[in-house]
Parts: sequence; C-alpha cells; structure tokens
Amino acid sequence: MAPEPVDLRGSEETLLITLFLRERDAASAHPILGDPFAGPALARVEYGSGAWQWFSSDTATINARAKCLDTWAAAFLAEHPDGQVLHLGCGLDSRPLRLERPAGSRWLDVDVPRVADLRRRVYDLPDDVETVAASVGDPDWWDRVDGDRPTLALAEGLVMYLTPPEVHDVVDRLLARCASGVLAFDAVPGWIVPASNATLAAFRLDARFRWGYDGSAFRARYPQLRERDDVAVTELAAAATTGPWHALYRAVDLVPHLRDAMRLHRYTF
Ligand SMILES: C[S@@+](CC[C@H](N)C(=O)[O-])C[C@H]1O[C@@H](n2cnc3c(N)ncnc32)[C@H](O)[C@@H]1O
Repeated sequence: MAPEPVDLRGSEETLLITLFLRERDAASAHPILGDPFAGPALARVEYGSGAWQWFSSDTATINARAKCLDTWAAAFLAEHPDGQVLHLGCGLDSRPLRLERPAGSRWLDVDVPRVADLRRRVYDLPDDVETVAASVGDPDWWDRVDGDRPTLALAEGLVMYLTPPEVHDVVDRLLARCASGVLAFDAVPGWIVPASNATLAAFRLDARFRWGYDGSAFRARYPQLRERDDVAVTELAAAATTGPWHALYRAVDLVPHLRDAMRLHRYTF
C-alpha cells in the first residue's frame, strides 16, 4: 500500500521518533528489540520534516526500554492469563502483535483520536485488540476498563508529555477502578524537562515535556503502590550493546545525573 501523508501535532509527532528507531534497530546487525512490524509500519507513513531522524543516537536506549516493557508485559500476562493491558499512549508501537496474548486476556490500545485513526489504518490489528480513541486524561474511556480483571497499565514515552494533573488523574482512576495490577512506565526527573524542551525546540518539534518524576513524592501520594522495579534505561542499553556503544553507556552510568535521566518504573497494587 502507498505511504500516506500524516497530520500529527505536538507530542503525537514523537511516535515517529520511536517508530523510526525501532525500524533502525530491526534493520541492524544486532537488534535489541528486533520489531519486525516497525519497518512495514514506517513505510506506510509519509512524513515531511524528517526531524525525528536526528534522534538516531537514541536507538539503543529506546529499544532497550521497549524490550524491558515487553518483558514486564509478557510476565504480567503469563501470571494473569485473564488480565487486561491498558497500552497508554500506544502511538504506532506494535506491542500487541509482538507479544503472545492469552486467549482469555484483554488488550486496549489507547491514544488520542488522530493517532488511533492512523494506527487502525497502518496496522491490521486482530479483532481482540481494542482501540480506544481518547486522551488518557479523558475520564469517559475508563468505562471500557474491566475493574475486576488484574490490570497492567503500561505507558511508554507518555507521562513526560502529560501535565502533572493529567498524570495524577490517570493514576487516581486506575487505582479507583481496578482492584489489582501493575503500573509500568518510563519517566524523566524534573531537571530533564527544560533540557529536553530546548532539544525539541531546536529540532522544530512542537512536543513539550511537562512532568518530571519525583519518586518520594509519587510514593507519598500513592501509598497503595508497592515499588517493584526502578531501572536506568542506560543500564539496559549497556547490557544490550557491545563495542563503543557499550563503553559509552557504561561511562554514562558512572555519572548519576546522566544515568538517572530516564528510568523505568514498575509498581504493583
Ligand atoms: C513518544 S510517543 C510514544 C508512542 C509509543 N508508546 C511508543 O513507544 O512508540 C508519545 C505518544 O503519546 C501519545 N500521547 C500524548 N499525550 C497523550 C494523551 N493525553 N492521551 C493519549 N496519548 C497521548 C502521543 O499521541 C504519542 O503517540
């Protein structure tokens, strides 16, 4: 099928960065994630500015992040074959195609309407993958969430683009609606927010970071959450690479500020 021009705005546009980096990884000699769906999906999209190509040096970190979240999602579904996955801010990520989903499980892909529509056109998703065209901050879509199933809320590359009240609304609603489950997401500390916004502006991207993670404040606000993992993405990238990239990530890991620039969090409730 011919590529189609896409109209993506603000943080929606950043889904092309992660898709592009997954395609690069899959086409490389030693893939970390090896997403076979990224190349065909990228080929379906005709996109003008190409600014996202400047983020090539993030290939290992972004793919190591996705792989870790795949592993956590697979572990959740293995433990809870009747479980439900809320794939928040899913963009054009092929996670429900990459993972084996038990027959009794549920999977909801959630993204804003313009992205959800594009996702339906780009992927031939099976009928049992439900697409929710809504902002995660919109209260109405939570009616579709089955509160009795163990629930994994998985947000990759999302929460930094939300305002603090939006992040709190999502976690509040998750904990109010779902009896038990897992919350998994990547986040950046507060100091990264202005630094990343300068980079995004320099590349003429309209997306802006709005929320920085503070672990103590987060846990104080949500005593129901039990911390299970807190992993530096650069440590994952170091473990997944060899040669000069491995040396670079090992060096980065020696500098706490750089090592902590993006971390993956897993909480249970
Ligand atoms: C960096 S992309 C990540 C996409 C995907 N998770 C991935 O890893 O490839 C950020 C995604 O968050 C989505 N997003 C941003 N704000 C959102 C909101 N309020 N509700 C739902 N999705 C949102 C964007 O549309 C975009 O798809």
